[in-house]
Order: sequence, then C-alpha cells, then structure tokens
Amino acid sequence: MLTVHDGASLRATLAGRGRVAFVPTMGNLHDGHMAIMTEARTHAPTVVASIFVNRLQFGANEDFDRYPRTMADDQARLTAAGVEVLFAPDETVLYPQPQRYLVDPPDIQHDLEGRVRPGHFRGVATVVLKLLNLVQPDVALFGKKDYQQLIVLRDMVAQLSLAVAVVPAETVRASDGLALSSRNRYLSDDERAEAPRLHEVLTAVRRHLEGGDRNLRKLEAWGEYELAAHGWTPDYVAVRRQADLEPPRSPDDPVVILGAARIGATRLIDSVEVDPA
Ligand code: PAJ
Repeated sequence: MLTVHDGASLRATLAGRGRVAFVPTMGNLHDGHMAIMTEARTHAPTVVASIFVNRLQFGANEDFDRYPRTMADDQARLTAAGVEVLFAPDETVLYPQPQRYLVDPPDIQHDLEGRVRPGHFRGVATVVLKLLNLVQPDVALFGKKDYQQLIVLRDMVAQLSLAVAVVPAETVRASDGLALSSRNRYLSDDERAEAPRLHEVLTAVRRHLEGGDRNLRKLEAWGEYELAAHGWTPDYVAVRRQADLEPPRSPDDPVVILGAARIGATRLIDSVEVDPA
C-alpha cells in the first residue's frame, strides 16, 4: 500500500488507475471500518482509504485531543486488506488557516446528533467535500452506524452535483450487539458489559413497531426511560423516516430508530432500520 500525504502525490498516484472507491475514516480502524474496505473492493479495482482526525467536527468539549491515533496499526490493517492507497494528510495540507468557506447543511444538521453537537455536521460535510475533491472517487462508502452522517453526506453529494455514488455500508457489531466504534475503547469493564443495552433498546422498539404499535412518542419515551433506568444519560431515542430523518407521516414510511446516550463519560450512538412489512 502507498501512503500519500498531499493532493499532488495523490493525483500522481491515482493517474490512469481507472475506477476508484473511497472510504474516509478518522483512523483507529476496527472491523467495522475494515468491512467497508471489503465492500469497497466490490465497487472498483482501486480502493483509497483516508485517515484524518477532523478538528472541525469536534466540539470544544469533545475528545479531539484524546481521539485514538494509531497510524502504524492502521497502515498494517489496510495493507493486509489489500487497500491500494492511503491518503493521510495533516492539518496544514487540508486546512488553510483559517478555513473560511464551509459547507452549511440544511436544518437536519441541528436535529438529533446536531442538537447535542452544534457545528458537527458542518465540520463533517466540509471535510468530506474537500476529501472528495482531492480523491475524485467514483464511489464513496459510509457506514449506517452514523446514520445521520450518511443522510447528510448523501444529500450534500446530490445537492452539490458531485459526480460520486454514495454507497451505505451495514453496521458491524460485536457478538453481543454493541456497534463497533473507536470510542468503545474508552469504556470500563462494567460499562462495556452494559453497553449492548443501547442496541437492545433500539431492537425492542423495532419489535414493537413490527408488532403494529404506532405510538411513536410512547416508544421513544420508553427507550429513553429504559436507558436512564440502567444508569445511562440518554440524548434521544427517535423513530424517523429513513429517507430524510423527518418524523414519519404515514405508517408506510420505512423508518429507522436512532439512539444516542452517555454511559459514564462515553457517548455512544446506534441505529436500526425497520424493514417495511
Ligand atoms: P469514523 O468514525 O472513523 O468512521 C469512518 C466510517 O466508518 C464512517 O462511514 C462510519 O459510519 C463507518 N463506521 C464506523 N463504525 C462502523 C461500524 N461499526 N459498522 C459499519 N461502519 C462503521 O465517520 C467518520 O469517521 C468521520 O465523520 C468522517 C466521515 C471520516 C469525516 O471526518
């Protein structure tokens, strides 16, 4: 695998290679990331990954400084997976001082995750637009684990007429249901044992929906109550339309159940789709 650190080397490396599938990450790669690399391979002969911990998407009180940085391990994993090119810019390459032009997503950026993380999706959209401009891939893959991120980026690509196909990747979980995340490493043993409850609560809400319960407010409140009763601080449990994350307007709308909650000092998010009957 070739590791390149700036746009010029990237263009030189990719010249004449044909179709490219791109997987942006912030590193500290786990099996969830690696499953996306494998999926990427089915879309193009050249797979490009990026590793960049994007300061712009972290809030002032978030974990930018202590976000795990494991470049040597990540390079080994990407090499073993057959990824052709790693783009690993540093901040001076990616960001002018300061970055004055920003991608400002519409109202969705203030909902759900955005309510708790103001500015987060502006930071995500801005860095992903820059990465897409640099890599110029044919396909870009994003995980459903970060469902709202996927929707924001898919809509950004459509609205800004970017010539890239956005492909969603399924969430990869530990055997007890916990969605893999770089932040799981912050969990104590006790918290790790409790952590699968987030997924359990979301799947319990799914069972109720599949059983015909349409009292969404009550189901959401139950989910938050259930987490709080087990020591979590829930931010939201929400049933939304898959298409745009608005509240469902018809029982036929395919929905997704999204949840976010803190356990100790660690904030976890997860989501499960409900397949239409
Ligand atoms: P990061 O958290 O490193 O995630 C990189 C990609 O992996 C994202 O598309 C994310 O949704 C996906 N992913 C993470 N955990 C997953 C899991 N358990 N199963 C499936 N996919 C999973 O998301 C980001 O980085 C950043 O916001 C980024 C898009 C790179 C912009 O900075």
